Amino acid sequence: MSGRLLWLTIVFVMMASILIFMPSIAGMRMNWLRDRLDTAAAAGIVIDGLQPAELPRAVQNDTLLATGTKVIALRKDGTSRLLAATDTQPQIDEVYDVAHTTMLASMRDALDTLFFGGDRIMRVYGPVGESDMVIELVMTDKALRLDMWKYSKTMFLLSFLISLITAVLIFFAINRMMILPIRRLTHSMQLFSEKPQDPERIFEADGSRGELAVAGRHLASMQTELQRTLKQQKNLVDLGLAVSKINHDMRNILASAQLMSDRLTDVEDPMVRSFAPKLLRTIDRAVGYTNEVLAYGQASEAAPRRRRVRLSDLCQDVREMLAIDPDAGIEFVEQIAPEVEVDCDSEQIFRVIHNLCRNAVQALLAFDPEDQSMVRRVTLSAHRVGSVVAITVDDTGPGMPRKARENLFSAFRGSARSGGTGLGLVIARELVLAHGGTIALVEKPGPGTQFRVEIPDRPVSLDDYRVRA
Ligand SMILES: Nc1ncnc2c1ncn2[C@@H]1O[C@H](COP(=O)(O)OP(=O)(O)OP(=O)(O)O)[C@@H](O)[C@H]1O
Ligand SMILES: [Mg+2]
Repeated sequence: MSGRLLWLTIVFVMMASILIFMPSIAGMRMNWLRDRLDTAAAAGIVIDGLQPAELPRAVQNDTLLATGTKVIALRKDGTSRLLAATDTQPQIDEVYDVAHTTMLASMRDALDTLFFGGDRIMRVYGPVGESDMVIELVMTDKALRLDMWKYSKTMFLLSFLISLITAVLIFFAINRMMILPIRRLTHSMQLFSEKPQDPERIFEADGSRGELAVAGRHLASMQTELQRTLKQQKNLVDLGLAVSKINHDMRNILASAQLMSDRLTDVEDPMVRSFAPKLLRTIDRAVGYTNEVLAYGQASEAAPRRRRVRLSDLCQDVREMLAIDPDAGIEFVEQIAPEVEVDCDSEQIFRVIHNLCRNAVQALLAFDPEDQSMVRRVTLSAHRVGSVVAITVDDTGPGMPRKARENLFSAFRGSARSGGTGLGLVIARELVLAHGGTIALVEKPGPGTQFRVEIPDRPVSLDDYRVRA
């Protein structure tokens, strides 16, 4: 960046010099002409005062040589007097009136002389001091052009030198004021990103007022904030790990308890018989809870291993797993055509449907079992639309409670049911998203709840297709 700045400064100063060059070369040319006129005027006035009226040839030649001209004439009181002239009358190419030239015209004339002059004869005239006399010269523009070229060269060298000095000064100033602080910032960012937990690597901001100093202070506060968050995260991860370990062992202990309590059902004692099923259910619930927390603790589910699955088979498994008590009066309706297939990880989509159906059944069980007028129905339907399979789980239950609605799909917060963990919907959503699909709570007019899941088929890779074709 600093190198580019150096070059840009040189180019800009040179551009500015070219703009200044035009009027200055025009001015130089006018001064040159005026000088010649003044010298000739001084000589002319002296000659004019001499008698006889015509100078000897030798004196005329000397005067012309000294003033660098071919003809000198003086106009006075309306008459023009030839003071000195060469023998041959020169052919005039250009005429210039020094007193009445605009800036623009003189710039144009200067360029003309500079590029096309050198062997032209010009007639130049202008006033003599404050008097009303006019001095007139005829001369070649060779000397003028030569002097103009010399002047241009000096000017070019000077502007180059100025631009070089300016550029170097600007380079050092910008380097000091901007590049070095920016380097310091980027260096700190790099160091920090290598080891963000090290407090030594936080940027040391100074209290000055420049924009970069402000950026530095922002960077320092951002790094401090990030470090605090990282520390919190680490604590949470440690905590999560500890909970997972406890949970894991708890699950094993519960599994043994489950095995042992299964045997209790064989005991004849009516007391044991009455509380054994409750005990079993409680342990079952505890096992389910620990399993889900463990699954969630693994944070990322394995990527889906997709293959084509017949949806009706999958739903049959869900139904068996739900093991709805026949006495509960819950009707489970499947509206899935046998040919509907979906390209998915069967285990994961099984968990999605199972979580949704289990929620529906649990909501229906919350109704008063004595009330025969209630319709208790869970409808599981699926159909394919193009490359998407839409699965809906609909129930005639009480609908989603407000707390659950407000915390829909947020872990641990959405549960509005005693004994619920608030993980079922979160896990379902994660699995659906991993398939590139969507899950949503559908607003419906009647009572009950409806969830809709859409699973798109895996997109076909064009290259694979071509290879196969
Ligand atoms: N079909 C439904 N009808 C009524 N309420 C529902 C339905 N589905 C979910 N809910 C509400 O949403 C809450 C969150 O459901 P979610 O499955 O995430 O957690 P949970 O069922 O409480 O616990 P678990 O992690 O054991 O599934 C439930 O507590 C329940 O109040
Ligand atoms: Mg649930």
